[in-house]
Amino acid sequence: MTQVTLQSEVEKLVKEFTIDESTLKVLTEYFIESIEAGLGHSSDEHSKSLPMIPTFVTKVPNGREHGTYLAADLGGTNFRVCSVDLRGDSTFQLEQSKAKIPEDLLDAETSSELFSYLAKKVKQFVERHHADRLSTDEDKHLKLGFTFSYPVNQTALGKGTLIRWTKGFKIQDTVGKDVVELLQIELDKQQVPVKVVALANDTVGTLLSHAYASGASPSGKQGDSVIGAIFGTGTNGCYLEPIDEIKKLDPKIAEELKNKGETHMVVNTEWGSFDNDLKHLPNSIYDERIDKISSNPGYHMFEKRVSGMFMGEILRQVLVELHSKGVIFTQYPNYERLPHRLRTAFELDSEVLSHIEIDDSTNLKETELSLLQSLRLPTIKEERIAIQSIVRAISRRSAYLAAVPLAAILIRTKALEGYHKEVEIGVDGSVVEYYPGFRSMIRHALALSPLGPDGERKVHIQISKDGSGVGAALSVQSST
Ligand code: BGC
Repeated sequence: MTQVTLQSEVEKLVKEFTIDESTLKVLTEYFIESIEAGLGHSSDEHSKSLPMIPTFVTKVPNGREHGTYLAADLGGTNFRVCSVDLRGDSTFQLEQSKAKIPEDLLDAETSSELFSYLAKKVKQFVERHHADRLSTDEDKHLKLGFTFSYPVNQTALGKGTLIRWTKGFKIQDTVGKDVVELLQIELDKQQVPVKVVALANDTVGTLLSHAYASGASPSGKQGDSVIGAIFGTGTNGCYLEPIDEIKKLDPKIAEELKNKGETHMVVNTEWGSFDNDLKHLPNSIYDERIDKISSNPGYHMFEKRVSGMFMGEILRQVLVELHSKGVIFTQYPNYERLPHRLRTAFELDSEVLSHIEIDDSTNLKETELSLLQSLRLPTIKEERIAIQSIVRAISRRSAYLAAVPLAAILIRTKALEGYHKEVEIGVDGSVVEYYPGFRSMIRHALALSPLGPDGERKVHIQISKDGSGVGAALSVQSST
């Protein structure tokens, strides 16, 4: 029998977490299939397929849009209110205030507890920055775009019911309700002179703001903006699909849009829910354990392998398992004796992994400090070497998986077909922005995917800052 050592366990793990060329191919093909299935299904609350939600945004901006709009953004744990002045030359000015959502609101009994808090923040912002617009005259109400970064079943630009919460929110009462209406009711109750006219997912905001910013400056433009994507606490993406292909769209609405000359609509894929049935996604015991303790077991299975909310938890689960096998942290005789933080789910932030990923200090001293600080966990050099290998395996799996929807959408939309055709993908989110090497690992995987190295070279992945603020303003603009 071979001896179980830390090194042999790490080698097994790295192998298990490797996504090779053939897996990329299978996943990309399955993603394309799932897009087609999702465009055909009506998005009902219990559906496990790719949601593929029509957004009622029918074009991307060209940079010449202008006007002053309000935007509110409920994303991870923060709520932002902004006032965006689009100047019509691809630039904008933005004022904002940001507040951390109080913990007790994440699992409040009623929706109104959360939405009255949001309305209060909008009110404070308007009083501070738009005192001149505090009119009771409805026609003069400021128009607000609401970036709501959770899956909603959108039925019009300014209407959408929550399918389910993700990323830690657990307010059951909100599921099935129109989130625009919930916010408007509370704004009206507090007599805030604001009308919520557009609802936008953060990915839609990212696509719109990216197109706006690169639109009117041809010198900086490297191709059409074709995908808006988020790789942060959660992950998701959107792109333009021909209206005729969105079979689930009410035929009357499709006809009306086409009569107005519209040809395409942005679709919010909600790719966090790709392959919820785990037909092809890798599934380790760590993934299974995380799913069980998550707020939405059985859903968002792709997100649980890719996004920042879960990378740290995967590492924590792996470390606890290695300890139970007796190959790491042997000074602790049993699970109960491990440092409390190492026993606490979701305690380990992906930011810690980002330091370990690139630690090249002597004896991995920085890793030692990071683990001491974040988990109160002392380590020896051999353990740190093992932990660094595990961290790199986790982030590489995440980035390689992240490439799958990008490759699939580019292939499905034939975005790279044409002479010297190049495309831009606007991205936002803490992982893609700050995790060292994440973007280049996505690129490696794109080259290895069915897109191939030639396709990969024509793809420009660009950080699009403030997507959720500027994008919401742009979606208001598209409602006018
Ligand atoms: C949500 C998406 C969102 C993504 C990124 C996911 O958990 O379901 O709606 O776009 O996170 O914020």
